[in-house]
Amino acid sequence: MSTNRTFTMIKPDAVENGHIGAILEKIAASGFKIVAMKYTQLSLREAQEFYAIHKERPFFGELVEFMSRGPIVAAILEKENAVEDFRALIGATNPADAAEGTIRKMFATDISENAVHGSDSDENAAIEGSFHFAGREVY
Ligand code: CMP
Repeated sequence: MSTNRTFTMIKPDAVENGHIGAILEKIAASGFKIVAMKYTQLSLREAQEFYAIHKERPFFGELVEFMSRGPIVAAILEKENAVEDFRALIGATNPADAAEGTIRKMFATDISENAVHGSDSDENAAIEGSFHFAGREVY
């Protein structure tokens, strides 16, 4: 059963480039309700833990260095069909392949610095959301 929630991070590249406001605007305009949100920074260890599923990938080192190099915005979003609709809103992992009007097309740098994260399943949305938020921080 769908939980109607997904988890997102505005990644360090988009924060550095001043895109927090524009990205949140687009998320809200697309019908997502923010039920939890914080401005925070992952330590290298926390990034390794968050992305443990990718630890055998050749880009793992680059990924965790990047994700811990500066602050991020972490949020839990609510909408009917949230996981799938949010992945459509952000576009393909590689911004070069992302459709016009998607967040990655508009704000991402390249495949490794791709502006935003979106959970790929309801199960991972729940795991990733509870990595960043205690129950009482979710409204
Ligand atoms: P995301 O889907 O948020 O989580 C996994 C991340 O790994 C992905 O975003 C990309 O930022 C990164 N990633 C995926 N493929 C590559 C790649 N080929 N090279 C570098 N980073 C990648």
